[in-house]
Amino acid sequence: MTIYPADSVILAPLSGYTDLPYRHSARRHGCRMAFAEMVDAGSLAFGNKRTRTYLDRGSDEDWLGVQLVGCEAEHIAESARILNDYRFDVIDFNLGCPAPKVAKKGAGAVLGANIDKAVKLFSIIAGISRMPVSAKIRILNETDPASTVEIVKKLESAGASAVTIHGRIKESFYSGQVFHDVIAAARQAVKIQVIANGGIMDVSSHDAIRKATGCECVMVARGAMGNPWIFDEIAMREQYQPPTIQELCAEIELHVLETIDYYGEELAMKVSRKLILDYMRGRGFPGGLKAEVSFLHKKEDFYTYLDKIRTEHTERYWHWLEKFPLAERRLRRA
Ligand SMILES: Cc1cc2nc3c(=O)[nH]c(=O)nc-3n(C[C@H](O)[C@H](O)[C@H](O)COP(=O)(O)O)c2cc1C
Repeated sequence: MTIYPADSVILAPLSGYTDLPYRHSARRHGCRMAFAEMVDAGSLAFGNKRTRTYLDRGSDEDWLGVQLVGCEAEHIAESARILNDYRFDVIDFNLGCPAPKVAKKGAGAVLGANIDKAVKLFSIIAGISRMPVSAKIRILNETDPASTVEIVKKLESAGASAVTIHGRIKESFYSGQVFHDVIAAARQAVKIQVIANGGIMDVSSHDAIRKATGCECVMVARGAMGNPWIFDEIAMREQYQPPTIQELCAEIELHVLETIDYYGEELAMKVSRKLILDYMRGRGFPGGLKAEVSFLHKKEDFYTYLDKIRTEHTERYWHWLEKFPLAERRLRRA
């Protein structure tokens, strides 16, 4: 079964980010396929209320994937049964997360490095789920593709419809080179879809990973943080018009207001501080203004701050942009 149409640009699961308001922001800019926030199998199996909210799906969401993380067979089986009562387009198994709270339980990337155990647990989901199942892994070795090829082939045999490969080993977390050739070797070894992930920040890095890996679909992660326009940029190519400061502020406003509706003002303002900083990052806003974001507690504070974003942008940014006209996350002068 083919999960993704050719040329898909999928929004990655991003823990702490890809909630409903976040996905709506990405979808306003052309993102069709997206993942909700990663769900811990133990928390879901034990009926944790907050975890259940991660399964919210907007009635306007045409395509949505869910991702499970865990390493206990009973929790994974129970979670897969619970998910059968929901409507998702794919259930993905996380075999790539290096975060200490996941690693110390032996899940995520630690589990991914233990190929046989990972595949055994994956088979449980595949056996229970009425939806297509996939896995998201990291490469297991930078210079020798054999182990990465082995896990992808075993996942295929266990019933995976697709595997997403982040081209960095777990020890590299999120920095350093993305090993395209290892992803390419894995893609060539299987019939199922292999989705390339790692370092897609704009249309040129998108084109580069596609060309080097031969993958027809990619997953975007940090490149979409504070930059939902990346979906427009990849789709529209030379016709792409980056946002003006007014358009940036309009998007921030929509995103924060929906976050307030979704969580209530107090929690939403905590969540929104990091979102606002992401929107400002790399776009020529003074450090002092960015530091003030930690004082946002109420909706009124947010509106006062939004006015400052509109007016306190640095002139120096536009001079810098003349030297780097294709800079990632760039703005357009109104
Ligand atoms: C804040 C943050 C949260 C993430 N959460 C998840 C997650 O829940 N599940 C997952 O499979 N990967 C997660 N990732 C990894 C990304 O999906 C992606 O694989 C990684 O960032 C590499 O892609 P990039 O270089 O384009 O960012 C997370 C990454 C970041 C930065």
